[in-house]
Amino acid sequence: MTEPVRVRRITGTDWDAVAALERDAYAPLGLSEGRAALQSRAAASPETCFVLDVGGRTAGYLLALPYPALSVPALGRTERAAAAPPGNLHLHDIVVAPALRRRGLARHLLRRLTGTARVRGDERISLVAVGGSDRFWTARGFVPHPDVTPPGGYGPDAVYMSRPVPAPREVS
Ligand SMILES: CC(C)(COP(=O)(O)OP(=O)(O)OC[C@H]1O[C@@H](n2cnc3c(N)ncnc32)[C@H](O)[C@@H]1OP(=O)(O)O)[C@@H](O)C(=O)NCCC(=O)NCCS
Repeated sequence: MTEPVRVRRITGTDWDAVAALERDAYAPLGLSEGRAALQSRAAASPETCFVLDVGGRTAGYLLALPYPALSVPALGRTERAAAAPPGNLHLHDIVVAPALRRRGLARHLLRRLTGTARVRGDERISLVAVGGSDRFWTARGFVPHPDVTPPGGYGPDAVYMSRPVPAPREVS
């Protein structure tokens, strides 16, 4: 990829692009949560939510927030909880624009997340793999927790997974 790639914090003017990426990725799966819920996650923890710019265009985003381990945010509901103390960072959502997938761009967002988690003092990163993406996450060191059943709104193949925050030189 020759165009410059940049990961940065989300600003107020990013939400049209973020909501469109989310809708396109999840509406076909019946999993789109809509703009208000997305914005509430970022409002709960702005320092752990990012957009990805490629050549000046918004090409993806990642929303994460401190959340108790083995618990799952309700999909589509606005986030009310105050930020939890460091310990577990929940990667609620990551999307890369379809035309730009399979070029390693998700890795840029994940590296930024793991760096942020280290600085915060988090020990683990959790997520709910949806739409059959658990293979993608397994390849990135996440392991399933069969004892945790995500709420039905995440779809029938949702899998709760987590991994320790990687050390600085580990691949994330
Ligand atoms: C998952 C996603 C963020 C990956 O972004 P990306 O920039 O394409 O990721 P990378 O280029 O860093 O890695 C791509 C690799 O992951 C694999 N991969 C991507 N999605 C996958 C999936 N659902 N299942 C299995 N493997 C997957 C690709 O095959 C590719 O592997 P390869 O390089 O060996 O061919 C992107 O596919 C996406 O936005 N998907 C829709 C939203 C989504 O499902 N998000 C995760 C919800 S938990």
